[in-house]
Amino acid sequence: MHQFLPYAWFGGRCVPFAEATLSVATHALHYGTGAFGGMRALPNPADATEILLFRADRHARRLSQSARLLLTELSETTILEAITAFLRANRPSTPAYLRPFVYTSDLGIAPRLHNIETDFLIYGLELGDYLSPEGVSCRISSWCRQEDRSLPLRGKISGAYITSSLAKTEAVKSGFDEALLLNSRGKVSEASGMNLFMVRDGVLITPGVDQDILEGITRASVLELARAMDIPTLERPVDKTELFVADEVFLSGTAAKVTPVRRIETTDLPLDRPIMERLRERLTAITEGRDPAYDHWVTRVRLDG
Ligand SMILES: Cc1ncc(COP(=O)(O)O)c(C=O)c1O
Repeated sequence: MHQFLPYAWFGGRCVPFAEATLSVATHALHYGTGAFGGMRALPNPADATEILLFRADRHARRLSQSARLLLTELSETTILEAITAFLRANRPSTPAYLRPFVYTSDLGIAPRLHNIETDFLIYGLELGDYLSPEGVSCRISSWCRQEDRSLPLRGKISGAYITSSLAKTEAVKSGFDEALLLNSRGKVSEASGMNLFMVRDGVLITPGVDQDILEGITRASVLELARAMDIPTLERPVDKTELFVADEVFLSGTAAKVTPVRRIETTDLPLDRPIMERLRERLTAITEGRDPAYDHWVTRVRLDG
């Protein structure tokens, strides 16, 4: 059972979590017509009155864009102001995961995005490691990642997560930790809620934004850091068999952070992961506010502001 933060942002203000409830007839519940974000909020280890958010501006921008893809408006400023108020009400003392959500809040039927009310809420929960930092086993899913011509993959659209859910459960029920999905062209796309990287001959490779991936903020950050650290990078289509012969494979995401893949199907991957380790160490230091060169990636929310 999750430990939820005591207050939710609901109807434009902070209310006790238990009072933030919706009608059974809520349109988004039936049609998946919502979009969400996912951010980590970290109490500053060096200052208890400050919460650190990793790339809050990017998260707000993606959620605002997701809202636009659902044909509604939600500005980055509105999102960031609500997050600040939410954090000041909750004052989390352990690492938390924030879930902002924009959705069709009207009651009743008919799938549509016109002539419909929308609303915005935020809730949070305590979250440590989502996947084991020691490494995970992955199954190649029998489910295929959706195509951008079927639904807008640049947004974190709720309805799209039926595929992630089917793939994750299929993987777990068959003895694996996580699922890797191919796209409709048979190329590697991503995991159920993370982007994928591999290292071959010293080059860090990840499927490009044309491979039906979610454009992950952690992914973009890993690529930018790698370039700054003189690690050669390549965004290109990735074939399934490349994963079996890769020197390193890892996943990236807000919840998963940087998580190594130790086995894919029946193939064990090398335990030595020098490039992933360097990137993970650097990213951890940045998210914990310990890397002055990347302080601009960290938003510091003063709890007593
Ligand atoms: C399907 C999917 N891919 C990738 C990611 C990683 O994105 P980010 O690094 O922005 O958290 C997520 C998580 O948000 C996701 O749900």
